[in-house]
Amino acid sequence: MPAPEAVVFDAYGTLLDVSGAMRREAERLGPHWQALSDEWRSKQLEYTWVRSLTGAAHHEDFWLCTRDALQFVFARHGIEDAPLARALMAAYRTLPAYAEAPAVLRAIRERGIAVAILSNGTPGMLADAVAAAGIESLVDEVLSVESVGVFKPDPRVYRLATRQFGCAPDELMFVSGNAWDAQAAHAFGMQVVRVNRSGAPDEYALAETGVPVLDDLGGLIGLLS
Ligand code: LAC
Repeated sequence: MPAPEAVVFDAYGTLLDVSGAMRREAERLGPHWQALSDEWRSKQLEYTWVRSLTGAAHHEDFWLCTRDALQFVFARHGIEDAPLARALMAAYRTLPAYAEAPAVLRAIRERGIAVAILSNGTPGMLADAVAAAGIESLVDEVLSVESVGVFKPDPRVYRLATRQFGCAPDELMFVSGNAWDAQAAHAFGMQVVRVNRSGAPDEYALAETGVPVLDDLGGLIGLLS
């Protein structure tokens, strides 16, 4: 891979641990908190895809998709606890970054390569998340889908990054923990790295196509050296 102009990170599930919100409230949620968290995430993403595919008039931002998905999960499991829902939404705004993330971002910038975030999150959510994770000074650009009003995997989203850096797709390295997001960036022509923390099976034949797969963000430095 030629050295990229910038390394562009997905936020939720790549830099930020989306299980962090329910983990924080695990005692109140009970032993099945992880399954509830996975369901929350699946519904949230489903809502983004349906809103994008049904057209601009149906766009609702990521904060609202996240809230609606939580309401669905609570209703499905008969959880009636408004203060808990509020606590989870607040926790979602300040999700923890994966432990190795700050050091990796620092190492990328030390190589003279810019660091960006390209995410479904609203500008407000991303600002809060980056501040809470203590990585503000390590990120050069934070790009939100809200400036195009459509969610990933629409190519207009990935174009935000090429426009920002004034370069071709293959001059950017896109890093995602979400296989579908990695596939979309690959289809757009970016260099792509997939982070597969859970050892999930390959999807979209990404590994076969030569997309590097890492267990966590730490391996990125080796790829850039
Ligand atoms: C994001 C979603 C995909 O941060 O997690 O864009």
